[in-house]
Amino acid sequence: MRVVIVGAGYVGLTLGVAAAKVGYEVLFVDINPEIVTSLNKRQATFYEKGLQEALDSLFTSGKDIAFSNLKDLFICHQPKQSVFVVSLGTPLGPDSKALLTPILKVTEEVVQWMQSNDLLILRSTVAVGTTRHLLNTVKGLQNISFCPERTIEGKALEELHTLPQVVSGSSPLARDLASDFFRKITPDVLQAESLETAELIKLASNTFRDLNFAYANLLALIANEHGVNVNELINLSNFRYERNIIALPGLVGGPCLEKDAYILAQSYPGSESRLILEARKLNENMVPRAIKFIETHSTKDSNLTVLVCGAAFKGRPVTSDTRGSFVFLIIDGLCASGFKKENIHVLDPVVNNLVPGITVLNHLDQLQGQYDFMIQLTNHELFESPPFNSFIDECVSHVVSFWPRKIGNNKSGKSLYLGGVN
Ligand SMILES: NC(=O)c1ccc[n+]([C@@H]2O[C@H](COP(=O)([O-])OP(=O)(O)OC[C@H]3O[C@@H](n4cnc5c(N)ncnc54)[C@H](O)[C@@H]3O)[C@@H](O)[C@H]2O)c1
Repeated sequence: MRVVIVGAGYVGLTLGVAAAKVGYEVLFVDINPEIVTSLNKRQATFYEKGLQEALDSLFTSGKDIAFSNLKDLFICHQPKQSVFVVSLGTPLGPDSKALLTPILKVTEEVVQWMQSNDLLILRSTVAVGTTRHLLNTVKGLQNISFCPERTIEGKALEELHTLPQVVSGSSPLARDLASDFFRKITPDVLQAESLETAELIKLASNTFRDLNFAYANLLALIANEHGVNVNELINLSNFRYERNIIALPGLVGGPCLEKDAYILAQSYPGSESRLILEARKLNENMVPRAIKFIETHSTKDSNLTVLVCGAAFKGRPVTSDTRGSFVFLIIDGLCASGFKKENIHVLDPVVNNLVPGITVLNHLDQLQGQYDFMIQLTNHELFESPPFNSFIDECVSHVVSFWPRKIGNNKSGKSLYLGGVN
């Protein structure tokens, strides 16, 4: 069986690699020519644990595995029974609703190449009802399945083979084809009754996390107000008390969490969905609080320096993905507060380029001199290492951290713990 992945980004490429690992013939289509070129050279286009090694070992060298469009792919390959996976990005439009047109156009294109027992799996995150809308609108489309992607970036290649996979289908045949496809990849395949159930499972899972983090962030604000250590509060509350699953506070971003609550809210017309939108806003508003603290503790000196720690949207599991990272808001906020771009340094072990004019450092030994401020955005393990802690103690005046830190020896002792106190 052949697997044709349309949209070879984080979701498409990792699923393609997982499918190749269990023996499927896998081909990729992507409109981005750089991605096509890189994949044909077996070069990973982003950092994901094990991805480069898998590309090196799973795909026969020399042969093209990626194409700019389906027509080019079928010039090189005879049709045979296939699963087509659509994994395009689904950014939000200006009205905060997921854009439908790109998915619709690609589905129309894929259908031109499908044979009667082929399956189209929609893997992108979509508003509830999208898959059925495609089924009802795209002429000739019969077997379509929505199968949510729920892996965590940084551990996706492992989780694709271990997490239960929910599948759904436009008909029993479509659902069975999807089940057969995933059963080779992961042991637990769960059949959802309807396309809508499967669509909602993705949105419900991520929005639940978003709400949980928002609650923890609210607790952090309340705890700070009362001089309480929020991490202690949450850890003791959760300890051997199974009814509690309170998350720890922190920045909540990334390409999924920054938008899935909006897509879920879009799926319900009533005003009750403001619960999830308020939680999202609370998570989004953690950054302005940090900037306000920095403004309060800044002198009029226009040469103040700042070290921002963490450019990827999260530190663990390690990823190079900066989509939905708060680093951009922090940089904008610092510039608006009068910091010069050349005085803003960003430290992240796996991210190389960020914003023109901003220096990105990958190693501790690239740090120079003193910094007036340090802002820790992620919990990458580097930021917990003894040499890093010594540097902060010796060379940084004010610390703003969204993660718990011990900074007892900090020179001035002025700090803001948005993610809890030591
Ligand atoms: N990143 C994640 O961990 C994750 C997890 C779950 C769900 N999702 C969802 O999966 C979808 C894909 O996410 P992603 O992170 O892989 O996005 P991505 O931007 O990394 O990948 C999408 C790819 O599709 C390509 N593309 C766009 N239009 C195309 C077209 N017409 N034909 C062929 N290729 C085209 C782009 O060039 C890009 O490489 C989104 O809906 C996202 O919300 C992502």
